[in-house]
Amino acid sequence: MSLALDSAIGRRFAAASLTDDSRTVSEKDKMRSHPQVPTVLGALIAAVALLTATPSRAFDEEAAKALFKKNDCTKCHAPAKTKKGPSLKKIAEENKGKPDIEAKLIKHLTTGPKVKLEDGTEEEHKIIETKDKAELKNLIEWILAQ
Ligand code: HEC
Repeated sequence: MSLALDSAIGRRFAAASLTDDSRTVSEKDKMRSHPQVPTVLGALIAAVALLTATPSRAFDEEAAKALFKKNDCTKCHAPAKTKKGPSLKKIAEENKGKPDIEAKLIKHLTTGPKVKLEDGTEEEHKIIETKDKAELKNLIEWILAQ
């Protein structure tokens, strides 16, 4: 009887020291993972900074596209393929890095110069319907980034 009790106590002790052990292990784990928290946070912050930095260019793409569509520019220009007018990609390639390009394109879009369409006919280029210089500049920056 006392032997059975002893062994029962012994088992309980063993069980208690087992749970103690496992608690110690999980606490060690916690302690070990604590120093990683700043690292993980730092990585997260860096990732978020990267994610938000990449698409934030100098222009507002949605606004540029909306203005482009609203003015029916899409009738003659597409991002990558030639329509009645050159593709935006081609326009960007031909104009990128040129001095005073912004002033030149603002003039192009506000004065209606004679242009030659792909079918050989000539007409005055569409004058953009906006009085907002910033909006116009934004559109030009978007075009030049194609
Ligand atoms: C009827 C067809 C047509 C429409 C509509 C049209 N374009 Fe054009 N666009 C042309 C053609 C053709 C050229 C090529 C001119 C050339 O190289 O002589 C051109 C050239 C351009 C250029 C390049 C100018 C340069 O000097 O390199 C830009 C920028 C441009 N268009 C923007 C626009 C925008 C923005 C709109 C809308 C407001 C628009 N276009 C509407 C036919 C069109």
